[in-house]
Amino acid sequence: MPKRYFITTPIYYVNSVPHIGTALTTFVSDVTSRYQKMCGHQTCFLTGTDENGLKVMEAAEKAGKSPQKFVDEISQKFRVIWGGMKIEYDDFIRTTEPRHIECVQEVFRRLQANGYIYKGTYEGWYDVSSETFYKEAELVDGKSPDGNEVRWVQEDNYFFKLSAFEEPLLEHIEKNPNFILPEGRKNEVVAFIKQGLRDTSISRNNPGWGIPIPGDESKVVYVWFDALINYLAATGWPDESYTDLWPPEVEWMGKDILTRFHATLWPAMLMGLGVALPDTLVGHAWMLIGGEKISKSKGNVVEPIELAKTLAARSGCTEDLAIDAVRYYMAAALPFETDSVYTDEDFDRKYNSDLANDLGNALNRSLAMAHKFVEGKVPNAAIEPAALAAGSEAKAAYEAAMSVFRIHEAADAALNLIRFLNKYIDDRAPWALAKAGDPAVAGVLRSMLHCLRTAEGLIRPLMPSAADAIAAQLGHSPLKDWNLVAADGSLTAGTTLSAPQPMYPRLDLSKNEDRKTKNEKEGKPVEVVEKKKAEEAPVEEITIQDFARVQLRVARILEAEPLEGSDKLMKLQVVIGSEARQIVAGIRKVYTPEDLIGRQVVVVANLKPAKLRGADSQGMVLAAVDENGDAILLQPEKEAPEGSIVR
Ligand code: MSP
Repeated sequence: MPKRYFITTPIYYVNSVPHIGTALTTFVSDVTSRYQKMCGHQTCFLTGTDENGLKVMEAAEKAGKSPQKFVDEISQKFRVIWGGMKIEYDDFIRTTEPRHIECVQEVFRRLQANGYIYKGTYEGWYDVSSETFYKEAELVDGKSPDGNEVRWVQEDNYFFKLSAFEEPLLEHIEKNPNFILPEGRKNEVVAFIKQGLRDTSISRNNPGWGIPIPGDESKVVYVWFDALINYLAATGWPDESYTDLWPPEVEWMGKDILTRFHATLWPAMLMGLGVALPDTLVGHAWMLIGGEKISKSKGNVVEPIELAKTLAARSGCTEDLAIDAVRYYMAAALPFETDSVYTDEDFDRKYNSDLANDLGNALNRSLAMAHKFVEGKVPNAAIEPAALAAGSEAKAAYEAAMSVFRIHEAADAALNLIRFLNKYIDDRAPWALAKAGDPAVAGVLRSMLHCLRTAEGLIRPLMPSAADAIAAQLGHSPLKDWNLVAADGSLTAGTTLSAPQPMYPRLDLSKNEDRKTKNEKEGKPVEVVEKKKAEEAPVEEITIQDFARVQLRVARILEAEPLEGSDKLMKLQVVIGSEARQIVAGIRKVYTPEDLIGRQVVVVANLKPAKLRGADSQGMVLAAVDENGDAILLQPEKEAPEGSIVR
């Protein structure tokens, strides 16, 4: 059997359910696995739950449940949440399963037989929260370096001869530049090992929960020593067939559990067993909320599925696509070298700019124009070199990022192709080519559809349902073969395209009661403006025929920039269906270009063109006027078909 591409996540403590921070590690592993599958590898993506240890036992006691009942319930919750987030793991291991327990005991026996385990007395500080032993000198103000409470432990224990592995570890790290990523974190590990490694206690007095030490039931295996072995247990080791999976191509984790555990204790254990080391350990940074670690006790937990549900309710996208939007956010905002801070505002901003505007526009415009100019079919015409090159370059950038597990950069490469497409459409202006009867329009449309097809392939590992939706709109089956991504023949000429169906309606941020204004957040008083009465001048009646002379249409703003020489006017590039127009509007005082780009508005489409401050204006954008005379733009209550008539 050929070796499978083996990806692991840390196994999660079952003292609470996943939040956006813990979900991050599993999510990036899922993206890695989906990408490798597309590349033609048989993969095994392993995740699971860490169910032994004092921390879990104490959480069970607090919940008034037996440890077994407690871990059964929470472990199941993890599976349900991962399912909801479309995490396609192949194996889920629990440290209370017999296959794991047997493997841990066998590792213990063999390391003991190889002379790496001996009996001694441990005296020192123990942090139950991170299940870590600390030296007196490592404590900060009587607490662990992470600020957790520590308790004094004095026990006869079994020790692992970690000190024997200092040199071999440093040598391995030196010889294998991709063993620890990212680079900066590798340096931290090297510095940690160079400080000197002490032999480490790998047993605890048996509290009635945990894996008994073989031949000494009075002790259980230290939870970290036990947990790390899950990766090996899932392969069936010591059965010879374990090399069908082993070694892992990548073990993903957060930075907090890299240095002491995955990059030191774990490889030393493997060396002591004579088992190969994983190819790469990636320790990503942390996602913080309000500058703090995410935790239930701090009350700052954001749950990924809840976040998606709220997004669906607020934006009108489907819950399935909302999950993909959350997945996209986690990929794009992945803290890699340095920690990042999650805020609702940042989430909304990324959703609007990348998904509603960039992706939404590229898709809607391309399909609308294909229906208008090439009979709604994939034209039988050559892809223009610029579009072909943009697709290949995006694919190459994506591959380069994935080869070193920089998921955020892969997401960026995919979005860059979408951004290229929007610009390409503006530059090549297919509506103008069509109007002039230029046959080049077919090649331009084909190129636009090619970019969309390529983008479908690139986003698939991140956003599988969104990718399926794009494929369906292109009238093709999902593109799941990486070789075909960006390939000239990835679309079949003559295939009928569906009508554009907006996937990610724009969030109207001004409308969200759940989003406080900056002033409110900073505790500044909200300015109260005295309301003036709207002028109630007598109005002349008109007939329905009079009204019908005004052609109102839905337009989409593609570009917006302040008009030079005016502090009131904004120059807008809009499309009404597939027709491009420039409109100058007096809305600059209240709207920034970022507020406008991608938004649908209502315009008077048959207004005589005029020049405003020297700029052509081919229409008028409708807005209500507030008590200060400022504009409040009219917008369809939900995404309207491009160019629809308003009456
Ligand atoms: N049980 C151990 C792992 C044993 S692996 C042999 C453990 N579990 S954990 O549930 O506390 O953490 C699991 C993973 O979630 C870790 O990789 C951790 O870094 C990650 N994260 C937890 N909170 C996080 C953030 N706020 N941001 C990013 N990652 C976070 O440690």
